[in-house]
Amino acid sequence: MRTQVAIVGAGPAGLLLGALLHRAGIDNVVLEQRSADYVLGRIRAGVLEQVAMDLLREAGVAGRMDAQGLPHRGFEMAFGERRLRIDLHALTGKQVMVYGQTEVTRDLMDHRRLSGRTTVYEAEDVQPHGFDGDHPWVGYRHGGIGQRLDADFIIGCDGFHGVCRSAVPADALQTFEKVYPFGWLGLLADTPPVNEELIYGHTERGFMLASMRSHQRSRYYLQCLLDDKLEQWSDEAFWAELRRRLPADVAARLATGPSIEKSIAPLRSFVAEPLRFGRLFLAGDAAHIVPPTGAKGLNLAASDVGLLAQALTEFYGGSVAGIDHYSRRALARVWKAERFSWWFTSLMHRFPDTGGFGLRMQQAEFDYLCGSVAAQTVLAENYVGLPLG
Ligand code: APR
Ligand code: PHB
Repeated sequence: MRTQVAIVGAGPAGLLLGALLHRAGIDNVVLEQRSADYVLGRIRAGVLEQVAMDLLREAGVAGRMDAQGLPHRGFEMAFGERRLRIDLHALTGKQVMVYGQTEVTRDLMDHRRLSGRTTVYEAEDVQPHGFDGDHPWVGYRHGGIGQRLDADFIIGCDGFHGVCRSAVPADALQTFEKVYPFGWLGLLADTPPVNEELIYGHTERGFMLASMRSHQRSRYYLQCLLDDKLEQWSDEAFWAELRRRLPADVAARLATGPSIEKSIAPLRSFVAEPLRFGRLFLAGDAAHIVPPTGAKGLNLAASDVGLLAQALTEFYGGSVAGIDHYSRRALARVWKAERFSWWFTSLMHRFPDTGGFGLRMQQAEFDYLCGSVAAQTVLAENYVGLPLG
């Protein structure tokens, strides 16, 4: 089989890239190791920046998001019983869209199916080859039969544990990593959200986030120990701990119910540099990871593939400038989002070594935010997403 662009991974990055390339008339094939149902079964974050919304609209995939998504013009921070609302729209003129990544992925899958472009699910032993030359190809097995996909480019959209980044010679890659000493215990329930807007909470018992997927479906997170096991957290234990960490007036109106999903995720910051190796490019979680506090993971995947789709379109139009500058341009935005996600995580979580001085630093930072429009504007600009650059 031959195509112009071989995309490894059918997560948000791979599927959005495929949709943008399709719109530009560039043939592409997606190779995914899992089944479509498995990919859809992953519960991830749910806040879209303007850049991601614009790219989904450009790709012709935003119909359901615009109809069912929840536009949010602000969010709340709680430090103990103190509350601060960050008025995103007043401070930046922008807003974010609360719309689950699962729904984004579903919309992209539906669009791809109708586009007629090839997607190979349950592709085994995917392996990129020849990307240091002009004739790269991807080997894989499907239904037990060995296959070869020849392409002009291979795009690694295969996530943190994928094969593409690891196919790059170690001496050609530099990585940067920070692992956080706690995890996020997440719960999804068909209960009405406890608050109209998201609440990020710093409490003496640890971080809390009250989010949502719709007016009928809530999403909550609790900072937990790295070695916590799901079996330690019954639904009752989760709801009781959430009640302790919510501001008292909010906790009083908490609606509880059976969890439809519960999971523990580790937190890390990670960046690989550069993002191009000859005819192989990396995008999304294959290239970088952020702690979920700033809701940047999906949004960075979207901005990476937005830049890459533009660069590949220019290539087929006769210019190599875009592909030559992709890595630098993408990393410029990635590092600013890494900084914001690290800052917000450092401010809102209890670290084992926070200590008395560390806690006073966090409280002083929150006090400063409460009294400074300039500080709130910095936070708001980063939360709604910086320009594509
Ligand atoms: N061969 C083929 N597919 C692979 C391989 C492989 N060797 N390894 C991984 N994959 C697939 C995974 O099964 C997954 O469907 O690549 C896809 C990667 O998708 P994501 O991990 O969702 O990464 P990305 O598309 O970059 O989206 C980033 O997803 O995980 C969240 O928090 C993250 O919100 C962020 C977003
Ligand atoms: C979510 O709803 O899953 C969510 C929202 C905001 C975040 C992280 C996760 O910062």
